[in-house]
Amino acid sequence: MQRRDVLRWLSSGVGAGGVAFAPSRGLAFQPPSAAAPAARGLPPLRITDVKTVLTAPNGIRLVVVKVTTSEPGLYGVGCATFTQRAYAVDTAVEKYLRPFLLGRNPDEIEDIWQSSYVSSYWRNGPVLFNAMSGVDEALWDIKAKRASMPLYQLLGGKVRKGADLYYHASGRDFAEVEDQVRWAVERGFRHVRIQVAVEGVSTYGAGGAAGAAAAGEDGPTNPTRVWEPSAYVRLVPRLFEHIRAKVGEEVELLHDVHERVTLPQAVQLCKELEKYRPFFIEDPLPPEENEHFRILRQQTSAPLAMGELFNTQHEYVPLVAGRLVDFIRCHVSQIGGLSMARKVAALCEFFGVRTAWHGPGDTSPVGHASQLALELASYNFGIHEGAGFPPETRDVFRGCPEVKDGYMLASEAPGHGIEVDEKLAAKFPYPEGPTFDYNWGRTRRRDGTVIRP
Ligand code: CO
Repeated sequence: MQRRDVLRWLSSGVGAGGVAFAPSRGLAFQPPSAAAPAARGLPPLRITDVKTVLTAPNGIRLVVVKVTTSEPGLYGVGCATFTQRAYAVDTAVEKYLRPFLLGRNPDEIEDIWQSSYVSSYWRNGPVLFNAMSGVDEALWDIKAKRASMPLYQLLGGKVRKGADLYYHASGRDFAEVEDQVRWAVERGFRHVRIQVAVEGVSTYGAGGAAGAAAAGEDGPTNPTRVWEPSAYVRLVPRLFEHIRAKVGEEVELLHDVHERVTLPQAVQLCKELEKYRPFFIEDPLPPEENEHFRILRQQTSAPLAMGELFNTQHEYVPLVAGRLVDFIRCHVSQIGGLSMARKVAALCEFFGVRTAWHGPGDTSPVGHASQLALELASYNFGIHEGAGFPPETRDVFRGCPEVKDGYMLASEAPGHGIEVDEKLAAKFPYPEGPTFDYNWGRTRRRDGTVIRP
């Protein structure tokens, strides 16, 4: 339904139940053209196509799903980006979800989620959930466009003007990190994640790490990227001390451990960082060690953020219900999209856990817009990861959310407010060969044992 049709319907004087607002006119006086569609609600729709748009405007493999409907011009887009296995998601969408969903009513978002979930019999997992997320977010986009509303309105309306962002500052040494923190603060960011290279080892989140490129073929007997955690655990508190001394107390500081320490090291690190009042310490332990959070939680007052690798409720529900973390970090497309994320957000609200959805460059702008809508409508929002979108990405995804004064702001256009320029998207094909997407599984201990992650 086009906007003018919605307006015509609203001005026809007929409510959703087919009852005239003006009693004096009586039911018999409704013109058939107005009464008939109003009695049924919005006109029926069918899904006529489900397809993927694969594009990499900034070198990161993005997967977007486009769902087309029987109403000319009415379609939706959703994020299905699992950049490390993008072609597997593409296959899951085109070969499996597409035939399952053609002809379905796109209004039935929850039923499409629940039936898609069991349609493979074996369920869960990042490939299938990302594929489902692409469809799910596209259906929310369609519904919001039908209502002529920005998506946050369908989710309950704004409880805040914008979503606080956090900027990534990383450097080879403290001075470089300090420069980046200052740069971000000068541009209005109130939250900055700080990561620094550790000399001699391949460090997460700090470019130009030493020890990253030893010669030869990687393997357990010839590790080419070596990581050892001891020096890191000693260095990070000194980085926090430096930034607090040089930049001051106002800026909120975040840090991502990226699972690379043992439980005792995580306890020591978190305790040492307490005095610098971190906003959160992220992923101190791998998801395989979820139970360790019971111990860590008892030992430190540092706020804990966890969950970017989680897929299912079996992983995040115990941590939330046990009040073992302060921020949930799920990657929205990885848990099945907006339909599941809003349930997770609601669950978290009851347990005092705030949302900090995973959202670096390997979430498409559509995914950012979707989670932003939820953040604006969720009481227990914590923080949004990211600092905006590069120019090439903005060109492909027209209508990206704006960034201003450290906030991400929602578009007021209906739905996600994003138009994907498919012709331009095709001009940015996936990069082949070893890129950032293939880095994991190659960092090892000095003795060759592969680390997580
Ligand atoms: Co992380």
